[in-house]
Amino acid sequence: MKKEKFYITTPIYYPSDKLHIGHAYCTVCTDAMARYMRMRGYDVMFLTGTDEHGQKIEDKAREAGKTPKQFVDDIVQGDRGVLDLWKLMNISNDRFIRTTDSYHVAAIQRIFRKMYDNGDIYKGKYVGKYCKPCESFWTESQLKDGKCPDCGREVVDAEEEAYFFRLSKYADRIRDLLENTDFLQPRSRVHEMINNFIKPGLEDLCVSRTSFTWGVPVDFDPGHVVYVWIDALFNYVTALGYMNDEYDDFDKYWPADVHFIGKEIVRFHSIIWPAMCMSVGIPLPKKVFGHGWLLLDGGKMSKSKGNVVDPYLLAERYGVDALRFFLLREFPFGSDGNFSNEALISRINIDLANSLGNLVSRTVAMVAKYFGGTLPESYDGKEAIDNELVEMAKGLRDVYQKQMDVYAFQNAIGEIFKVLGRANKYIDETEPWKLGKDPEKRERLARVMYNLLESVRICTVLLKPFMPESCEKIFSQIGAGDRTDWDSAATFGAMPLNVTVTKGEVIFPRIDMDKELETLNSLTAREPEVTSDPVLPDVSFEDFSKCDMRVCKVLECEAVKKSKKLLRFTLNDGSGTPRQILSGIAQFYKPEELVGKTLVAIPNLPPRKMMGLDSCGMLLSAAKEEGGEEKLHLVMLDDSIPAGYKIC
Ligand code: MSP
Repeated sequence: MKKEKFYITTPIYYPSDKLHIGHAYCTVCTDAMARYMRMRGYDVMFLTGTDEHGQKIEDKAREAGKTPKQFVDDIVQGDRGVLDLWKLMNISNDRFIRTTDSYHVAAIQRIFRKMYDNGDIYKGKYVGKYCKPCESFWTESQLKDGKCPDCGREVVDAEEEAYFFRLSKYADRIRDLLENTDFLQPRSRVHEMINNFIKPGLEDLCVSRTSFTWGVPVDFDPGHVVYVWIDALFNYVTALGYMNDEYDDFDKYWPADVHFIGKEIVRFHSIIWPAMCMSVGIPLPKKVFGHGWLLLDGGKMSKSKGNVVDPYLLAERYGVDALRFFLLREFPFGSDGNFSNEALISRINIDLANSLGNLVSRTVAMVAKYFGGTLPESYDGKEAIDNELVEMAKGLRDVYQKQMDVYAFQNAIGEIFKVLGRANKYIDETEPWKLGKDPEKRERLARVMYNLLESVRICTVLLKPFMPESCEKIFSQIGAGDRTDWDSAATFGAMPLNVTVTKGEVIFPRIDMDKELETLNSLTAREPEVTSDPVLPDVSFEDFSKCDMRVCKVLECEAVKKSKKLLRFTLNDGSGTPRQILSGIAQFYKPEELVGKTLVAIPNLPPRKMMGLDSCGMLLSAAKEEGGEEKLHLVMLDDSIPAGYKIC
């Protein structure tokens, strides 16, 4: 019989050798789903890969003194690159795409031309704002306080020839797709998309760039490269052979059954991607699931904040399966979740060492002790007290399936642990150690052991997608043989009565929480690693000296009414006339704590009106963008330096 297909994808990752546990999260969840569907008998295609074009890569390669291709090759294939991490995490992807693969590049060129030929891509003028140091174009609405959202510097009016995709043409169909189908999940993400993007109106999307070259060239217009997100999103089909001859299973696997992605890239996948599928005339993916983020200390893990958790360290200490299990068991898939060492160790101890590991080793040890490792060939020994456990184990596959089919991994595992909990209670109720002392109770004891082994077996079959290697070890200890497939999980009594167990290693050793936390905390003590923008091109000394940077004392400071960001400063700049400067730092400082402080200002900038007030100059601060937000620290000097001193 022909197997039904199931096509599942992760996002393709930006090349990095600093991947953290948050990056692993999405791919581990996708892997669990792929393994689950394979177990159910589906013909699964699980795709992942790397997203290797764009200006950032071009810049980083230049800094590293490499060509962009050398740079991405070294990272992707290198130590702690994506391939290394997927190997560590035991990821079972069927295919891996790199957007620099030549078949993909050629396919993107054909796709771009197809959309150009059908009129959905047209040449126009990008009219907007340009940040010279960042070489970036922005629309008016993307600016922050009228400045570059990346670096906070002034932007200038700009026009650039560019290609546009008619996203606006698809606005109604996209709205319908989001509102009236369950294309995008969880449902909360639909409201975000409608309110933030659809209601304000979808504008045509600029889909080519001329300011850098590291991308897929538009073959009919040299100088333009295809916008990196267009290049990236089409990976889901080029990897199946769409518009290329490298593969030929597009008809077999497309449309994708589900794209698993992180919440910050839902807009690209639920608005731009379906619109482009409509444009090139291919069916839409069936579902997009936007999962939450793994947070550390309440913030998204990011290497610039230095709050990342190292998957290599954790896998080495606790084993990959324990780590996979923790990610899937601890956090609801659709929501954010806070990572902590305590939570990880508790889960390992409570679920894996106690509920599961202990149950397996106790049961195996008792069968060895009372029966020399093999249960008798025939026995009855059934009692009414067995029914609850047997019924729960029999019904487990169904309740588990209901949860897995809606990607509720946490709940699916929860169902398994209900049965394991019941089995542990069953040992207390049946007291096998007492039965073992009574020769008359031998049949009863054999039945109790059998019920335990069968319950463990069914639970372990269903745990396979989460902890593939450990489950194999359990199967060999309990003598499951080949009764480890999906069908066998619905049958209580699949193992022969005279099953043979084999004592083995402790699969999940218990961890001493206090000691381990101390070690782990010292191993993971974090120094924030700040990555900065590249140093800007030289300016002449003459130009620099035109900038009057001087020491100022804060005479008054207050919040500007109706503004969340602005503080109004009255400063002594040494000139004898108080100077008023407005600065967007209200989120970072209370006005009263700044009075009397010694700051650095540039007074000779043209005055600007902000919230109806004149700002005559600018205060210097150290700025950094983190998680899409700008963080600022005012430059403060030693209070012994008098007002009016020049900074040179
Ligand atoms: N290249 C794009 C995706 C293009 S798909 C056509 C990209 N890459 S990424 O490397 O930045 O992110 C890859 C995935 O990792 C994303 O789904 C992202 O949400 C996920 N995560 C990165 N940090 C994360 C957490 N801290 N927690 C959970 N997932 C997070 O985006």
